[in-house]
Amino acid sequence: MKILVTGGAGFIGSNFIHYWLEKHPEDEIINFDVLTYAGNLENFKTIENNPKYKFIKGDVCDRDAVFAAVKDVDVVVHYAAETHVDRSIMDPSAFVRSNVLGTQVLLDAVKEYGKRFHHVSTDEVFGALGPEDPAFNEKTPYDPRSPYSASKAAADHLVRAYFHTYGIKMTISNCSNNYGRYMFPEKVLPLFIANLMEDKKVPLYGDGLQVRDWIHTLDHARGVDMILQKGKIGETYCLGGDNELTNMELTKTLLKVMDKDESYIEYVKDRPGHDRRYAVDFSKAKNELGWEPQIKFEDGLKDMVDWYKDNQEWVNRCRDGSYKDYYEKQYIIR
Ligand code: NAD
Ligand code: TYD
Repeated sequence: MKILVTGGAGFIGSNFIHYWLEKHPEDEIINFDVLTYAGNLENFKTIENNPKYKFIKGDVCDRDAVFAAVKDVDVVVHYAAETHVDRSIMDPSAFVRSNVLGTQVLLDAVKEYGKRFHHVSTDEVFGALGPEDPAFNEKTPYDPRSPYSASKAAADHLVRAYFHTYGIKMTISNCSNNYGRYMFPEKVLPLFIANLMEDKKVPLYGDGLQVRDWIHTLDHARGVDMILQKGKIGETYCLGGDNELTNMELTKTLLKVMDKDESYIEYVKDRPGHDRRYAVDFSKAKNELGWEPQIKFEDGLKDMVDWYKDNQEWVNRCRDGSYKDYYEKQYIIR
């Protein structure tokens, strides 16, 4: 099988590619990525010479490039997107372009060539939960609140519209917050790990009592694998980590793993429109696919911290490029 992975040079895509080539060495992977600040080809050093892996530098909004790439494969797994909520608050335009228009271009190509399409989405499309609300599931109405989640919601709607209107062979997954290796140090966990490695404080937004559900990215990769194998065309699957933590709990756990005390927490201004709680009910994936998360948070977090410690140069290179320029202009003083 030949798989086109869009956005494969980012955090989750890189992990998916490594997972797939290890698990299915007979398959071919084409990584199609425009290499924004978040895309990093260093992540593929160990498989550069693997004849089953190929990279194409391309933009999902570029119709000719997308049609040429899609024509040549069996399956498309679509990860490419702008993904950081804080950036979407600063400037939504790149999010609408890549996440909405880019998805539509891909859908046109998939429709033209009759290819199988899996769309990777987020639980953030469902909005925010109160403390007692039941977790999100596949029937939860959409209620996105940030420009990021609104752009992902628009993309999800387009994917379903192409299924109902044109009969494309699609599935969607809505997954909770991922963590693991190769995560660009701007989202909370890798940012905090990178700061602590430099003996700097970690900026906790607002009261730190917002809740996220954390899933290891290799559990997510296995979920996408199982959807490709057993998922029903036209269906959506929610994937979660069964691991709800407040940001405060997350931070304190990390401080312990990194041998730091709570004086490293710096309370900073809250994110505008900050969603209070995300949680995912993954019983459909469990019952229909036999999928459930397997990696224990303590083990996954320890592996992640060790990887960042062993790859300080990777972190430094992320931090001295566009990353730094961006944070100097941020609305939060760090
Ligand atoms: P990331 O920001 O680390 O990587 C995104 C990748 O997409 C980068 O390599 C970037 O270069 C590429 N890209 C962006 N715009 C592109 C374009 N126009 N054309 C081609 N490539 C482009 O993101 P991530 O955290 O790995 O997320 C991957 C996907 O998973 C996204 O669709 C995201 O919405 C979804 N998701 C993420 C999480 C999470 O916790 N990070 C959770 C659920 C779902
Ligand atoms: P983030 O990693 O940006 O993911 P998302 O917004 O997609 O869930 O943020 C996770 C949580 O951590 C979120 O509640 C915001 C919070 N946060 C901080 O407290 N400080 C930070 O510096 C960042 C980046 C996030």
